[in-house]
Amino acid sequence: MMAKTARGIRTVLISACAVLSLAGCGQQASTQVASNEPPPAPAEPAPEPLGDEPTSPPGGSPLIGLPEEEEYGEFVARAEELVNVSTNDIAKSIRLSAISLALGRMVYDRHCASCHGADMKGSAAMHAPDLTDNQWRFSGDDHASGGEIKIPSDVEWTIRYGVRSGHPSARGNESDMLAFDPQYRNDHDIGDYGRVKTVDEAEVEAIAEYVLQLSKQRFDRAKATRGKALFLDNAKGNCGDCHTDEGIGNAALGSTDLTRKEVYLWGSDKASIIESITKGRRGEMPAFDKVLKPEELKAVSVYVFSQATK
Ligand code: HEC
Ligand code: HEC
Repeated sequence: MMAKTARGIRTVLISACAVLSLAGCGQQASTQVASNEPPPAPAEPAPEPLGDEPTSPPGGSPLIGLPEEEEYGEFVARAEELVNVSTNDIAKSIRLSAISLALGRMVYDRHCASCHGADMKGSAAMHAPDLTDNQWRFSGDDHASGGEIKIPSDVEWTIRYGVRSGHPSARGNESDMLAFDPQYRNDHDIGDYGRVKTVDEAEVEAIAEYVLQLSKQRFDRAKATRGKALFLDNAKGNCGDCHTDEGIGNAALGSTDLTRKEVYLWGSDKASIIESITKGRRGEMPAFDKVLKPEELKAVSVYVFSQATK
């Protein structure tokens, strides 16, 4: 059942990003938004940027010494204006963008840095992704481009509902990395796949060699050739169904782009890849819809989106 759904979504979503090169995708959005930009309102002075000021008192831990509300009172007062503007429209206003970036950075330091790192570059230990690259595992909200162009609300959805957080609208609810050894399957996957074993250990190793090839690492050619056939075979690995036949991942499912080892969350060495296939993976991020104020949620979405520059 899952396989069918996944195949359906895949057909729609294999984005031109694959064809156009990923580098183009993330930043097209900002360019596009900028081109539609109305002239800025002249009356209001732009708020002072925060620059590199520390957000915690000197000597305090960056994660424990949180800014008091009054330290950014000016921004909080104005931040309420964000509530009635859609997240994708905030970038069209210089003034609202400035507020979002300042407030968003504080929200980030307080609520996100513990998992994604103070530098936003992710954490291997937390299996949390680098937020400064322009590849979004979860995206696809832009109607006009069929999800190809990335926009701030792609990120907002992830932050609002989380990833496999238990919220009914969470990202990744429909899919996780299937445990190919049935003894490691969770209830979700038993429901979709039962206890059928489609690949044995030697086949898992061959597929892992192909994943090493896909991710441009050292690989065993004979095994990888066999692995590629298993990867594409719907009755065996069936990997292409969720990761696309090219292995670049599917933004509707949040499946990893296997061609870029730097975006792996669970390790890109051979042993880790074998473990991912054998035992499955199910990364989680909490939902922030009840944690953040509406303006904070929008601000941090705009801020995080704006940092995805490489
Ligand atoms: C039902 C959909 C589905 C199928 C089938 C599937 N995957 Fe995945 N895979 C995912 C998802 C979703 C993730 C991301 C899991 C996460 O973020 O925790 C993932 C993650 C991975 C990872 C870990 C990457 C990382 O971020 O460290 C590897 C390796 C992998 N898949 C390889 C494969 C291979 C090889 C096959 C076929 C044998 C396969 N997958 C089949 C959905 C799938
Ligand atoms: C408890 C740890 C944790 C916290 C706190 C957390 N995240 Fe995450 N986040 C994760 C993990 C883990 C993933 C990857 C889930 C997966 O796909 O397997 C993730 C994924 C994401 C993604 C998806 C990236 C993509 O490529 O699509 C975004 C965006 C994100 N987080 C932003 C945030 C923001 C902003 C905050 C703070 C408001 C935050 N996260 C707080 C753990 C966390």
